[in-house]
Amino acid sequence: MKVTGLSAVLALLHVLAVAAAASIPWKDSQSRWRAEFVHRKYRQRTLDRFPNARAAGDPSKNPYYIELPLDHFGTGAETTNQTFKNRYYVQDAWYKPGGPVIFQDIGESSIQGYVGYMTREHLLPVTVAKRFNGLLIMWEHRFYGRSAPITNVSTNILGATPQELTDLYKYLTIEQALEDVTVFARNFSYAFKDLPADAPAPPALTPDVTPWIFIGVSYSGNRGAWMAKRNPGLFKATLASSAPVQQQVNFWQYFTAIEDSLDITNRNCSLDLHAAATWMSEAWEERNTTLVDPLLAAVYKSKWTQLLDQFPVDSEALWDYRVDFLTNIAWTPFEDFQYVGIPYGVLGITCNVMETAYNPLGNPAGVFATEPLDRAVQAYTKAIVAVGQPPSALNNSGSLDPNLDGHSWFWQVCSEVGVLQVANVTRPQNLLPAFVNVTASIESCVSTFGLSDHVTRAGPDIRPVAEKYEGWNVELPNVLWVNGEFDPWRALSLDSADAPRDHLPTTVIPKCGESFAPGVQLRYVIKDAHHGSDLAEPVRAVPAVDEATTAESGSTTATKTVEATSVQQAVRSAPVVDAIHAQNLWLSAVASWVSCTTLPFPPATTPTATPSTVPYGYAGGMRYPIARAKLTLATPVAGSG
Ligand SMILES: *[C@@H]1O[C@H](CO)[C@@H](O)[C@H](O)[C@H]1NC(C)=O
Ligand SMILES: *[C@@H]1O[C@H](CO)[C@@H](O)[C@H](O)[C@H]1NC(C)=O
Ligand SMILES: *[C@@H]1O[C@H](CO)[C@@H](O)[C@H](O)[C@H]1NC(C)=O
Ligand SMILES: *[C@@H]1O[C@H](CO)[C@@H](O)[C@H](O)[C@H]1NC(C)=O
Ligand SMILES: *[C@@H]1O[C@H](CO)[C@@H](O)[C@H](O)[C@H]1NC(C)=O
Ligand SMILES: *[C@@H]1O[C@H](CO)[C@@H](O)[C@H](O)[C@H]1NC(C)=O
Ligand SMILES: *[C@@H]1O[C@H](CO)[C@@H](O)[C@H](O)[C@H]1NC(C)=O
Ligand SMILES: *[C@@H]1O[C@H](CO)[C@@H](O)[C@H](O)[C@H]1NC(C)=O
Repeated sequence: MKVTGLSAVLALLHVLAVAAAASIPWKDSQSRWRAEFVHRKYRQRTLDRFPNARAAGDPSKNPYYIELPLDHFGTGAETTNQTFKNRYYVQDAWYKPGGPVIFQDIGESSIQGYVGYMTREHLLPVTVAKRFNGLLIMWEHRFYGRSAPITNVSTNILGATPQELTDLYKYLTIEQALEDVTVFARNFSYAFKDLPADAPAPPALTPDVTPWIFIGVSYSGNRGAWMAKRNPGLFKATLASSAPVQQQVNFWQYFTAIEDSLDITNRNCSLDLHAAATWMSEAWEERNTTLVDPLLAAVYKSKWTQLLDQFPVDSEALWDYRVDFLTNIAWTPFEDFQYVGIPYGVLGITCNVMETAYNPLGNPAGVFATEPLDRAVQAYTKAIVAVGQPPSALNNSGSLDPNLDGHSWFWQVCSEVGVLQVANVTRPQNLLPAFVNVTASIESCVSTFGLSDHVTRAGPDIRPVAEKYEGWNVELPNVLWVNGEFDPWRALSLDSADAPRDHLPTTVIPKCGESFAPGVQLRYVIKDAHHGSDLAEPVRAVPAVDEATTAESGSTTATKTVEATSVQQAVRSAPVVDAIHAQNLWLSAVASWVSCTTLPFPPATTPTATPSTVPYGYAGGMRYPIARAKLTLATPVAGSG
């Protein structure tokens, strides 16, 4: 099956997969900020010890499933009455009665590669659980991992016809998947194991009694913001990390952050990758195999020679494969930029190998400008071979089908999400061949899923979500928006240069009972940071006052050790020192929002949630369902700062 673009769209995945190798020099990036958040202390309440059977346990051995309707919204004969089982995990090691529920949303991936993080005490979600005595839940999105109806189609994705895939995937929509979360939260209960007979009964854990907190990053960061908009008050605090909430089909801007960074730090490589993209475009237009085929042979080896045996050299079928392969090759240098930037990632290696292919010192003008074309392409080939095929960051073991996640995300992209990461050939620093374009992506959608109400030649239908959730114009009272300075996805976030100028960031959390001024929201852009840095970076010890002050003048040197995970090959990356400020801001926001039940939400608007057949207790004016008396959280810090 032809799946052009499938690998490209997967670039949004695997936020937490960023792992760093051993001992790395600590870059001295500076605190343009300190004081209120850095030094805030959280008074730990002394609670009667609440026994936990699995205090040191590993939740990954113990998946839970909730049975959910496949179709939340249909009625009568128009709906299927089918259900599916949605997987989640629970970490109760740090829970104490009165603590919140922390809902970590994994988004567009099997939960398998992430569940191990539920025991990582240096990461932000566990830090929140520990600090606030919370119960941590990790949630798998419908149609990823094991959270899909188990059918002949979902267990044999590559064997399914486009029609069969569409019949399965028509229930994979943004709204259905958001409704899963509301149904889950409102029905949630948890049986603590081995409670002594005389232990106090824990309170109900549903959001009317216990505050719920949402943590999401990337697409799941969007989901956090969307939940806050469609079900106000269901979650008391939301971390929308690296959330590209603006809806867009043609997302050529993805590459502008890479173009700019390369142009500044590796100008010769910038020129060369642009030249390589231009060369590939022309070779494809002219159907010129002279240099293309040696590149494909070097990268794809036997896979390529088998195709040559199978198809005539000039056939369209073989050109289809060439375009797929060239698209993957053209993407390869940028594969991990969003997680690690240039010097520590694939792009840094590509540049070094290519630029030093003929001269150890490199040439400021690059190889394409100074060498004959065949030698320049050989340098490019050498670089692509050196970095190899991108590692499969997905850990699909335990998924219904190893191809489920990739197809599910591709379905979402093709039907509702868009964000096609494509070339913009009019830009002088464009890095991708012209055949990586919107038309080609839509063709790939159609050839994978066929034509239907969901997948059309007009492309992904982003309008319903854009209208309902207002993209980057949205204003939400209890959401912290965090972005990474160099994250390409920032271009679609509230902190995009193109987002409304009259909307302003603040790092000051309103006092209990007060709200943000119009247009103002809690936002932080982490300096020198990437996609999801606040979740990927360990939560470091809060520096003492004088340390933080001197850090600005002196050049601090230290080392950090971060475990390499098995999720992805260990990648070296510079520590993102400024992440601590976003992390502390989040901890402050949680402390404030969870304990303050009077933080005003915007005036009630017409309900935005799609009507549901499930009756809820939240209808009408019940915006603040937490009973203050039931809260036994850390000391309220609302208003300070
Ligand atoms: C689903 O159940 C409803 C109510 O029992 C019924 O009216 C409807 O026909 C069922 N739909 C299908 C597709 O079986
Ligand atoms: C599913 O596959 C099994 C085994 O191949 C087959 O017996 C069964 O009829 C299939 N079911 C459907 C609904 O196609
Ligand atoms: C969830 O709760 C609603 C009512 O609050 C109920 O109708 C529904 O059956 C529950 N769903 C599950 C899966 O327990
Ligand atoms: C194909 O490309 C090679 C190498 O760039 C060039 O020498 C040759 O003229 C091209 N052939 C055609 C038909 O364009
Ligand atoms: C050219 O590339 C090499 C290797 O990446 C680099 O060391 C060198 O500084 C670059 N030269 C210029 C002028 O950008
Ligand atoms: C390509 O980039 C230019 C700016 O460099 C922009 O004006 C233009 O709209 C972009 N093209 C498309 C198709 O978006
Ligand atoms: C888009 O790519 C396809 C092949 O992938 C090509 O046929 C088409 O000409 C390209 N469109 C543009 C505008 O470059
Ligand atoms: C994938 O996950 C399984 C189950 O958690 C684990 O046993 C296995 O080692 C993992 N594989 C990789 C490559 O991370």
